[in-house]
Amino acid sequence: MPTRPYVIDEMISAKSIAARIEHMCHDIRAEFSDTDKLIVVGLLRGSFVFIADLVRELDLPIEVDFLEASSYGDGMESSREVRILKDLRGAIEGRDVLVVEDIVDTGHTLHHVTSLLRSRGPARLKTAALLDKPTRREVDLRADFTGFDIPDEFVVGYGIDFAQRNRNLPFIGKVRFTGDA
Ligand code: PRP
Repeated sequence: MPTRPYVIDEMISAKSIAARIEHMCHDIRAEFSDTDKLIVVGLLRGSFVFIADLVRELDLPIEVDFLEASSYGDGMESSREVRILKDLRGAIEGRDVLVVEDIVDTGHTLHHVTSLLRSRGPARLKTAALLDKPTRREVDLRADFTGFDIPDEFVVGYGIDFAQRNRNLPFIGKVRFTGDA
């Protein structure tokens, strides 16, 4: 998809992300220290970098599974219609589940996914999001573990895309448009 020209300004450095994940994992370990049946569920595609760093810092006996949900397509605005493009491989009934999301924006994706997974009868279901844009919320929810609250900026990097680009940046950057399409 052709886009207006833009540059990316660093917003959260790779070092800050790593430090914050260490703290989040401390809290997540405390929550799940009593279990040996935790499944960490990454929401594709945006969470793939975050979940990779998170599970390596977690130091708990875990399984990893993935679910792909999409609400944005290639556009900049949420369609508010969450589609499940790929379901979990395994069952979660009676298991402890941690859903890992890169960013909570309107909240529709996390709401839809957690409702779906709760209907499958997990023993415990918690959520972790690296980024949260609380001012954009349309559904009343908050992740149980949040990395950073951020303002309503267009962010990319560390798994997050703009029209499928920039997911491989090691930091979180802010898109700044520099011209017309
Ligand atoms: C993005 C992001 C979150 C979701 C958050 O996913 O990764 O999953 O939107 O938005 P919401 O709170 O308004 O629902 P997207 O649909 O762009 O798919 P992707 O993860 O494959 O990039």
